[in-house]
Amino acid sequence: MKVLVVGGGGREHALVWKVSQSPRVKKIYAAPGNAGMAQLAECVPIKADDIAGLVAFASSKAVDLTIVGPEGPLSMGIVDEFQKKGLRVFGPAKNAAEIEANKAFTKDLMKKYHIPTAEYGTFTDRAEAEAYVRSKGAPIVVKAAGLAAGKGVVVAETVEEAVNALDLIMNKKVFGEAGDVVVVEECLRGEEASFMAFTDGKTVIPMASSQDHKRVFDADKGPNTGGMGAYSPAPVVTKQIEKQVMEKVMNPTVRAMEKEGRLFKGILYAGLMIHNGEARVLEFNARFGDPETQPVMARLDSDLIEIIESILDGKLALAPVKWKADSAVCVVMASGGYPGGYEKGKEIRGLDKAASLRNVMVFHSGTAFKDGKVVTDGGRVLGVTGFGPSVAAAIDTAYAGVREISFEGAHYRRDIGARALETGT
Ligand code: AMP
Ligand code: GLY
Repeated sequence: MKVLVVGGGGREHALVWKVSQSPRVKKIYAAPGNAGMAQLAECVPIKADDIAGLVAFASSKAVDLTIVGPEGPLSMGIVDEFQKKGLRVFGPAKNAAEIEANKAFTKDLMKKYHIPTAEYGTFTDRAEAEAYVRSKGAPIVVKAAGLAAGKGVVVAETVEEAVNALDLIMNKKVFGEAGDVVVVEECLRGEEASFMAFTDGKTVIPMASSQDHKRVFDADKGPNTGGMGAYSPAPVVTKQIEKQVMEKVMNPTVRAMEKEGRLFKGILYAGLMIHNGEARVLEFNARFGDPETQPVMARLDSDLIEIIESILDGKLALAPVKWKADSAVCVVMASGGYPGGYEKGKEIRGLDKAASLRNVMVFHSGTAFKDGKVVTDGGRVLGVTGFGPSVAAAIDTAYAGVREISFEGAHYRRDIGARALETGT
């Protein structure tokens, strides 16, 4: 079969890598892809949010299955448009993707169906939002309700900081219309984890647990990023927590979406805060996490294509979903300056050497070809992923890969996975 993967980041490279191992797949396209994916797929220069262009391409090439990586096209209704043309596509429809694209909708859904989350208010009026912030006090969290590329959340330690955030989001409109509605919520403390699951809208099967590292510097210092690394399994997600999350979060949410006439087929990702053995939902995503997908796909033993097809056919309950017992750790190498401004076009050296190491996979995020060389082309550049019998072994392997690679300004965290060691695996 012919498969099209939509997106151009590390998550999509990991998906292309996994899909390429399926005996049923003969040809892979990636749109727009990157220099890493180009080794396994034919990259076509169509942007991930050019839905009309993607529909036309998939029709003209008789693509059998399209897998959508990023939230942007999902929230714009790429799945609905493909389906209108009779094209098979993996991901939630627009009205189901709203679980990520509209935080106000999702908070109300969780309240209505008693899904554990932080106490909150939603506001379109700046004065009312400020009055709520002042009545609750700090710390408090201010969120633009719409999509803001992971930047629309401010965890405010003081009331002034929260009021400032309201000003930026509601008056200065720094996130555009994503800030038309604001969610203000209780600040939760604890350990975060990413809980991703496959669902066909009825059956929910959890993926291996994972955790990402959002802050740019070691020991969780500095500003938030799209994710500086991730590891799987995450020991904070014990068997007992997994059971609790399935019973109190994942199954009720999937049932709630069905009841609301928004059948959710695809990947449901709950961002969790775990404290004293209780998990609460920080957010839902309607897609695979990036960079969590890199270590999680490294551990998936089953054929991803078979799982996806069973979801599309509403038969996930019959699909084999098996995980390798080994651990995986992904270390992100970023451009100098990221998550602030950075330059592109720096030559990347040592990629082949790193990839030739045993149990190392080098997933590309922001890379491109220039004059026959692989160069940096984004903030997050590479996700060097190590695989091994323990988290400690996977950490060593991933950093052995990182040490082979260099580009001007490269920076990465030195402590990816360290938290898993503290919790004891
Ligand atoms: P979100 O996009 O809603 O997951 O928020 C991004 C990040 O902000 C999360 O991964 C947390 O680190 C932090 N965050 C979001 N909501 C809360 C909350 N209610 N309490 C504490 N931290 C939060
Ligand atoms: N790693 C966080 C996300 O994919 O949203």
